[in-house]
Amino acid sequence: MNIKSKFVNKILYFITNIPKRIYWRTKNTILKWRGCDFSDFRDPSFGFDIGYTYRPSPIKEFQFIMRKVDREYLPIDQTAFFDAGRGKGATLIEAMKIGIPIVRGVELSEPMYEICCKNLKILGRERESTRLYQANAATLTEELDYFNLFFLFNPFPEVVLKQYALNIIDSAKRKPRKIIIVYRHATLHHVLEELGFSLLYNCQVTERFRPDNISYDKIYSLK
Ligand SMILES: C[S@@+](CC[C@H](N)C(=O)[O-])C[C@H]1O[C@@H](n2cnc3c(N)ncnc32)[C@H](O)[C@@H]1O
Repeated sequence: MNIKSKFVNKILYFITNIPKRIYWRTKNTILKWRGCDFSDFRDPSFGFDIGYTYRPSPIKEFQFIMRKVDREYLPIDQTAFFDAGRGKGATLIEAMKIGIPIVRGVELSEPMYEICCKNLKILGRERESTRLYQANAATLTEELDYFNLFFLFNPFPEVVLKQYALNIIDSAKRKPRKIIIVYRHATLHHVLEELGFSLLYNCQVTERFRPDNISYDKIYSLK
């Protein structure tokens, strides 16, 4: 793509996103005013070798992929949802809103754990949040046995993802059940594929006027 069309795309991207930006600014201002915090956050207490920065996963794509799961792989009302690297809880709240009965998660960062609890309390979702873990996801073992849908929004590097996935496999051996993994912005999908998870669905996510910005949302199952 030449420099001129790159520039035109930038302008078009900026203009077409103005309504979206106004919507999010207004929503976040109201949430902040109520005492909630969903802003991006990097906890300096751990390095990128253990985990990545907090950034809430975009809601529209989350709803889209969860509708797909509900229709084809695992009904929402039978889902026990676990978010590894749940940050400040934005996705947990969306999962509760679409009617998933069991919604839990783990977060490595202590400050984010506290903020998440506060957000859920303010938004009246505290009751469902009684079992939030503050730990490295790679250290969870029996805790995983209660869940059948494991959600990932590109939370951690390969070494952590591999251990976490191995722990899910052990959990399935301990307690045989249907297991679905929803992996958004799947940068390390080869880890799951090498461990024997089967790819059920692969969706290329693009943004209008940003042809270079491509990511993949994937759904896996464990047989
Ligand atoms: C990209 S954010 C995902 C946020 C959330 N899942 C969502 O969809 O809105 C990644 C989160 O994973 C957390 N994290 C990183 N490494 C972790 C680890 N090893 N164990 C548990 N949480 C971790 C980070 O602190 C951050 O909050």
